[in-house]
Amino acid sequence: MRIISITNRKIEHVEICLYEDVEFGSTLLEDVSLVHQSLPGFSLSDVDTTTNFLGKKMSAPIIITGMTGGLPELGKINETIAEVVEELGLGMGVGSQRIAIERKETRETFAITRKKAPNSPLIANLGAPQFVKGYDIKQVEEAIQMIEADAIAIHFNSAQEVFQPEGEPNYSIEILYKLIDISKSLKVPIIIKESGSGLSMEIAKLFYENGIRYFDTSGKGGTSWVSVEMYRGIRKNNWKADSAKLFLDWGIPTAASIIEVRTSAPDSIIIGSGGIRNGLEVAKAIALGADIGGFALPALKAAIQGKEALMNFLKRVIFELKVAMFLSGNKDLQGLKKTPIVITKELREWLDSRGINLSYYDSVRKRRT
Ligand SMILES: Cc1cc2nc3c(=O)[nH]c(=O)nc-3n(C[C@H](O)[C@H](O)[C@H](O)COP(=O)(O)O)c2cc1C
Repeated sequence: MRIISITNRKIEHVEICLYEDVEFGSTLLEDVSLVHQSLPGFSLSDVDTTTNFLGKKMSAPIIITGMTGGLPELGKINETIAEVVEELGLGMGVGSQRIAIERKETRETFAITRKKAPNSPLIANLGAPQFVKGYDIKQVEEAIQMIEADAIAIHFNSAQEVFQPEGEPNYSIEILYKLIDISKSLKVPIIIKESGSGLSMEIAKLFYENGIRYFDTSGKGGTSWVSVEMYRGIRKNNWKADSAKLFLDWGIPTAASIIEVRTSAPDSIIIGSGGIRNGLEVAKAIALGADIGGFALPALKAAIQGKEALMNFLKRVIFELKVAMFLSGNKDLQGLKKTPIVITKELREWLDSRGINLSYYDSVRKRRT
């Protein structure tokens, strides 16, 4: 009965994300400018976006972050995304594999990704709250093996869990201890991933000091899971829906989250995600401190229309990234990571009130290779 409710919930989430307006707040990427350089010194066709991620070569620093799996229709979405990322030389994550840990017959809806994307970086996915309910290394290894993953993202979604009508928000510190312990015997890295509310410097530091080196910001400004659960609450006449409205704007804007994580976890690999919607924003995220840009909702909307639509969307993103690199005089990603940036307005105020020293941040940002 409970298993059926997990799959129903997943379908409902996908349906709400596709047909309701679930994006909320700002990433504050609009407060970041890359500086125009009139003479780049090379041509647009010389721009090189290739990178290495999780030991694999990618044609551009772009992944589709974890969303689905568990039912045939959702497996189809995973399949489409996998075919496209393989063809374009990008990477992807799958949605929470809890369903497949608990119901083995659903595994193929996840495993299809490795079959269709044999050369791409693939990221497994489990939720942090499961680690207070008995999950341990066994389930983590199962999830990794299922898709022959190059890493596993552990998602933190406290804001969603609170407003989920059936949510059980338990984020005890045991999660940290367990994940650190598990990370020591895993062959692939753990990625600490938010789900739309952004990682703070305090949380990044906590994991960084314990040896974790991979983070996915999933900040505010894109898909709001408070909003998704608010819609579910309204449909179910659940009293929590009204309180959810109050928290629609909750979270750390993606631009701020990237800077917070980069400053507190200097030598980490950061996926900048949450509200990234085009190639210019990927360029800004990388200049700010990310290594890779991550997309969820726009990729889902394209994938549902088919392979060609997703392919076209991602080709457009890569073109826009190249244009941003060309116009800012950066021939490759190493250059983009050190490029001059201007931070204004609310983002500057955010950094100021968080006590982040701009020249220290700039030196950490430019130290990246
Ligand atoms: C339909 C849908 C399902 C999602 N399911 C998961 C999930 O199972 N695990 C996870 O870590 N994140 C999940 N996410 C969150 C995304 O990976 C991402 O962190 C978040 O949506 C912000 O990115 P965006 O603004 O580009 O959508 C899901 C997102 C969407 C849209």
